[in-house]
Formats: sequence, C-alpha cells, structure tokens
Amino acid sequence: MSRNAGKRAEELRRLIAHHRKRYYVDDDPEIADAQYDALERELREIEAAHPEFVSEDSPSLRVGGEPAEGFETSHHASPLLSLDNAYGADELREWQARLMRAIGEATPSFVVEPKVDGLSISVHYRDGVLERGVTRGDGRVGEVVTANVRTIRSIPLRLVRPVASLEVRGEIFMPRQAFAALNRRREEQDEAPFANPRNAAAGAVRLLDPRITASRRLDCYFYALASIEGDPAGGRAEAPTQSEALGLMRELGLKTNPANETCADIDEVLAYIEQLHDRRDELDYEIDGVVVKVNEPELRERAGATSRFPRWAVALKYPAQQATTRVEAIVVQVGRTGKLTPVAELDPVQLAGTTVSRATLHNEDEIARKDVRVGDMVFIEKAGEIIPQVVKVVLDERPRKTEPFVMPQRCPVCGSDAVREEGEVARYCTNVACPAQSREKLLHFASRAGMDIQGLGDALVGQLTDNKIVHDVADLYGLEAEAIAALDRMGDTSATKLLEQIEASKVRPLRSLIYGLGIRHVGARAARVLAGRVRSLGALAVAPAEELEALDEIGPKTTEAIRRFFEQPANRELIDRLVACGVNIEALEDELIEDADPTAGETPFGGKTVVITGTLPHHTREEAKAIVEAGGGRVAGSVSRKTDLLVAGEAAGSKLEKAEKLGIKIIDGEELAKWVSHE
Ligand code: IVH
Repeated sequence: MSRNAGKRAEELRRLIAHHRKRYYVDDDPEIADAQYDALERELREIEAAHPEFVSEDSPSLRVGGEPAEGFETSHHASPLLSLDNAYGADELREWQARLMRAIGEATPSFVVEPKVDGLSISVHYRDGVLERGVTRGDGRVGEVVTANVRTIRSIPLRLVRPVASLEVRGEIFMPRQAFAALNRRREEQDEAPFANPRNAAAGAVRLLDPRITASRRLDCYFYALASIEGDPAGGRAEAPTQSEALGLMRELGLKTNPANETCADIDEVLAYIEQLHDRRDELDYEIDGVVVKVNEPELRERAGATSRFPRWAVALKYPAQQATTRVEAIVVQVGRTGKLTPVAELDPVQLAGTTVSRATLHNEDEIARKDVRVGDMVFIEKAGEIIPQVVKVVLDERPRKTEPFVMPQRCPVCGSDAVREEGEVARYCTNVACPAQSREKLLHFASRAGMDIQGLGDALVGQLTDNKIVHDVADLYGLEAEAIAALDRMGDTSATKLLEQIEASKVRPLRSLIYGLGIRHVGARAARVLAGRVRSLGALAVAPAEELEALDEIGPKTTEAIRRFFEQPANRELIDRLVACGVNIEALEDELIEDADPTAGETPFGGKTVVITGTLPHHTREEAKAIVEAGGGRVAGSVSRKTDLLVAGEAAGSKLEKAEKLGIKIIDGEELAKWVSHE
C-alpha cells in the first residue's frame, strides 16, 4: 500500500506542477479549479498519512508557478499566499475548528468578501504616488506591469494623502459587461473569444502594449493592506483590523468591494455566503466563492500560516462554472451571414445551475487546435453571458478509434458550396437564398436591437420560411392576416397583433434598421454611430470609405463590409422595396450626433482631437495616449485648427505657443492624471 501511495504522490506532484504552470504561467488551464483542488487535496492527504513522502520540491509546498518572460520581475516584500479552500458549510466549520485550536481562548469576528475571479495585484505607492504594480507571479517574485496598472481607472495614480510608503493588494478583474463587449468585438472581427473574464483580465494585464490594456476596461477591488508607513493622518499605533484596513484603503481612494461585510460568528458568515450566492448573477463581476478572514490582527498573528496559506483565512468555493462531459456529435449551424459554426452536442451536464447540452466550437481552426472529436471527454465552461464553450479535450479519456473532425465543404442546409476566403477563419455558404440564412436574417431583423418586432420568434419565422410565405425582410411588410392566421398555433388575434408590430417597426430609428440589415461587422454600437453621423441609409450607401473610417467605432473592416453590402444589387433592390413599403430610412432627431458632441461623455476627451506635448509628471507619452483613447479621444501629432485640446507637460515648446495663439483649451499633466484615477 505504502509503495503505491509513494508512486501516486509522485504522479500527483507531476500533475500538480503541470496544472499550476498552465494556470499561473500560461493563463490557459486545462482542468477545472475544483479538479485541481482535488489533486492537491489528495497529495496533502497522502503526505499527512505518510510523512516520509513529503519532498522538498513538493509543489504543494510552493505558492505558484514561474513568472513569464517579457516583463521585469520584482520580489514581493511578503509572499502573496493562496487560500485554503472549503466546499460547503461542514468544511467551513472544520476550518473554524482548526482555527480555534490554533488561537486558543478567543472570540474572533470575521470579514467576508466576495472572491472575485480575476488576478491578484500588488500595488506600491511612494509619497502617495503610484510607483509600481506587480503581478502575483509565483507568489514570491512577480512581473512589473506598472504601465498596464496605470490604465485601470479605478486604481488611483495618487492617493488622497501622501502616505510615505504603502503596499496594497487586490484583485484586477474584467466586469461582465466589458467582457461581453470585448468578446462581441472579437467575434465580429473573426477572432477567438476569451473563455472567461478571468482569462481576458489576465491576458490584458500581461499585454506588452498598455494601449490595448486601456481599451479592455479592467477594474480592481483592493482587499489587503500589506504595509503602511508614514501616514500623515497618523494615530495608529497598532495594526488595524481587516475592517479598519478596508476603511483606511477607501479613505485613501482605493476601491474596495461594497459587498464586503463584518460578521460576529460563523452562523452570520454562512448566512452571508448563502445570500451572496443567490444574488451572484446580479453582480457585474464573476465570483468563484467568498473569502472569510479573521478580523482581529492579534488573532491573525496567533493563527499564523502554513507554508502555503494563512490559517486565519479560507476561501469558501461555490460549485464550479466548469464541468466535463462527452461529445456525442458535432453539428454545423448556418448563421445569417452564411457563416458555418460547428457546435458540440453534449451528454447533458449540470453547469452553474443549468443543464447544458450544446457548446460552441467556434470554427474549424479552433476544433483543429483543440483536436475535438466525437466521443471525446471535454472540459466545458460558461463564460459570462455567452453560450458555453468547449475549452479542452481530456486526452487521457479519448476512446479508441476516433477521427479528427472534418469541416464540410458544402452548406449542411442547402448543399451549396461553402468557401473559406483567404484571411478568414470561417467558412461561408455561398447561396444568398439559403433558407438557413433567410431564417437567421429575419430573426436578426426582428430582434430587440433591430426592428424590435415582438412575437416574431424562432418558431414563427421557421413556419413563414418553410411555407415560402416570406423569403426576405421586405416580404414581412406585405404579409396578410389570413396567411398568418392559417399557421400552426396562430389565430386571428395573434395575426392582428403581429401585423401591428410590423407596422410599428416602419418608424423605428435609423440605427435599428442599419443594425437589422445585418451588415457584417456592424453591431449595435457601430449602427448607432453610423445613424447619428451619416444620417440616412441613402447617404450610407454612397459614403466614401475615408468618411466612414474617420468615425468612432468604424474601422477598415467594417467600412469594407458596408461597401460590399451596398454593392450587391440584391441588397439595393431589397432596400428599394423597404422604402416602397414606407420603412423609415432617415435618422430621427434624437439620433443625431453632432461633431462637438462627445460620445464618451464623462471625460474631457470624448470625441475630441487631442495633442500631447512636453514631459508629463506621471506618464510616458504612450500612457498619456492610452488615457486619452480610453476616454474616447483621438491623439494627433501636430496642433492645427482641428485640435480641440492640448495636454502640455514640462518644457512644452512651439506646440503650446501655437495652441495658445489658436485659443485651444490646454490642460496639464496633473489634470490628465485625474482622468485615470477618477479622483
Ligand atoms: S485574500 C492571504 N481576499 O483569491 C490572503 N483574496 O487564493 C490572500 N482573491 O489569487 C488573499 N478576492 O487574488 C483575498 N477578497 C479577497 C479575494 C482574494 C479574490 C483571490 C486572490 C488569490 C486567491 C486566493
């Protein structure tokens, strides 16, 4: 038995080392957190029963993986430990019992904090000014990512008071909305979406180009005061409690989670955990549990730490958002643009409270990269608002005689050629009259962000197209009540209601029509800008490429897609028919975007052309540019009549003079810094 245990311990160490690296270094885990925790737990159990197998290099004694290349590294003054996990109330009570044994006679209170699923960061301030941001790395040595940290608006560049030296720790994360928008943008540009907000945030913090980080809309909650020296507010001889530390951080301008609470005992902690679990979906960030911390500093001290984690804190984990299951089939769906999307049909599995039986495989390159085959055991994950996706294959469990998946060369619905053009990851059905495309186009046209035709859902559109009553969106405006009433599960009343909805859709804003037409790369935001700026469908059809590309949100790909759309005679004819039916093709008064109207709104840069000059006190030129761009502005190289704003640092020369002459608004480096720190 003990020989076997020794072998198993060896194997577990190897597996743990492998998965730690996948998680910490590569940001690309291949098993669920809960599965990983189970490996560690098994190793700890073996090591506890057979101390002779505990080895110096046991990964269970280490804190993380190795830092990645590309950034300077920095030693943490005190290690960033991880947390012991507890699954459920019983394990939490066991943790409490261990804690009480360690601290003896005492009545601790607890601070409970949502365990935000992002990546930890250590941020240093010197004399109140942000000096350095360091990732966790292996817990002892992290990567210096200051330029990227500076782009996060909720991390102040300057504290409210000039504390001589401060180190705080927190969690950087990507809010769900930012994550959904990022993935929408990526999908529109045919880039693989991120699996979850954590990966997206970790990727963004470790980008070598802070401008891209700035565009990723990251956020941060601080949860630990690691060290503080020389606070001019003074008055603290002793170490603060955790709740005082949270209050002090807030006082200094550091954001903490408003959902944090102090509890008098474990029953209160359990009530909090349950209540937070219930409103988990309402939070604008993903959490994977709750962190429970002893509040009193002297009791934390007494409890101490093991080599891996403190005894005074524990992570109560919620059931996983990840699961493994078997791929029963791979089917190919055809979207409104004719795009073929492979989808895995799964052995139904419970995942974060719902039963999942399908997951997207994105495109043929993604299937090939992951080598997903029918019969495979796969690792699936729910990512924010988007549908579950297949993340990995569990190769060890691959059955014999599986075949690599081959993408069909023909449309699975109409049988026409499906081609993949150079530079594209997706394959498209070439038949403009493909029934699958017609169906999806109609659904998109009728959707909320489109013409908002309520009642025109999946089933009804299916009947209308299958019975050849409707072929394209213009046919909707010629529908007659009798034809609708004759359909399954429809009657006179529902037919009349539908016709009323269709009639009402004729006077929707122009943005709804532009979106509803389903031009590639034109999502709801782009449609709003096009409607507000170009102001009519007729003008959009003939707008020169340069004019479109100069608009916010509109890049060369979108411009090219718009040109191609209006070039197709079939599309022009469709629009003529819509106009003949009385569909509005002009922007409404409240859609118009004026030149001077900042679309981004709250910053001084929204919609503005900004020039940066001189040496700035807190930022490099690159960072300043990122701040302006994150605030919706465009940075130009030279001052002209078109310049709206000049950011002038020290020793600003001729540009400053010229801007003064032209009466252009000027701000300094301090003022610029405000728009990062949100002060
Ligand atoms: S306290 C010694 N508090 O969870 C205490 N951690 O394994 C260490 N995390 O990667 C952490 N929210 O970044 C703490 N409110 C919170 C947290 C939190 C998320 C992360 C942390 C670390 C992991 C702990």
